[in-house]
Amino acid sequence: MTTTATKGKASAPAKIILFGEHFVVYGNPAILASINRRITVSARKGKEGKVTIRSDIAAGEFEGSTFRLIEGANARATLEPIYFAARQVLVSRKQPAGTGLEIEMSSDIPYGVGLGSSAAALVATIAAVEELLGKTDRKKICESAIEAERIIHKNSSGADCYVSTYGGMIFYSRGEGYKKVESKSDLFMVIGNTGIKHNTGELVSSVRRLKEANQMAFQGLMAQSKDICNQALNALNSGNVDHLGMLMNENQLLLERLGVTHEKADELIDIARSSGALGAKITGAGGGGAIIALAASKQDSERVAAGIKAAGYSAFEIEIDSKGLVVN
Ligand code: MEV
Repeated sequence: MTTTATKGKASAPAKIILFGEHFVVYGNPAILASINRRITVSARKGKEGKVTIRSDIAAGEFEGSTFRLIEGANARATLEPIYFAARQVLVSRKQPAGTGLEIEMSSDIPYGVGLGSSAAALVATIAAVEELLGKTDRKKICESAIEAERIIHKNSSGADCYVSTYGGMIFYSRGEGYKKVESKSDLFMVIGNTGIKHNTGELVSSVRRLKEANQMAFQGLMAQSKDICNQALNALNSGNVDHLGMLMNENQLLLERLGVTHEKADELIDIARSSGALGAKITGAGGGGAIIALAASKQDSERVAAGIKAAGYSAFEIEIDSKGLVVN
């Protein structure tokens, strides 16, 4: 028998894409990892007919198709996918029409820079509402999060939702799902944040236009990206971090060819490399956003982070999170 709680609570991690972003949309593999930054969501029953959502960046209340702004710029667009996801759970769990919800979110994930904050928000929200109603199922949560993410960008590969739900490092492709990857060596990684927010949907569309304009050249880049992912998997399995760094630099060249890098991201990548990183690249959709750098040791990763900070940007060291979605 399932019982109904008064509150559902769940948290889900941010992510990095080590290899293969954009190409993963077209069926290629990508290597991703969830990291030690999370969003926590709690859900309670609310006033009849109203779904109120409060996050660190926006707050508002939905009642059917009506939206009432509480605070935040662009609040409706930010909160709508969360509303959709929560409503879907109510419908699938056959809750009476007009069931109200109060959803609260708090996060230490920089948003809009490619670290998977929207996927994590969706995964944690769906899990929190499911928990409120008495039962959670990871597979279903992941699928519902992907469906809701497709409101944000309709061609989502689903990779971000997978890694946020299942955690750890994964080798993912749209056709074959994911398998867990263990690195034989410690990975000392740093995120550098350009602070420039991007629109994933627009960047994915710009890559699609490029693909349609030049199918042959795009197929060539797909083949190179796939080869890099397969080599990276071997490098992870054998603990060859030097090779991994080199492959990150090669991956960045492909992203440059796709036109998704940005002068500020290039600047951070240069700083990371000249501060001793083995390799560096943008992570996620690009167009500004965040970069990741790989270092050979803790000391080196501290130096890379310090180099980026000295140039006036934010930077932090990261660890891989093994838990993924946590429901409590
Ligand atoms: C966004 O984090 C990653 C992209 O590859 C898009 C996707 O996989 O849906 C750019």
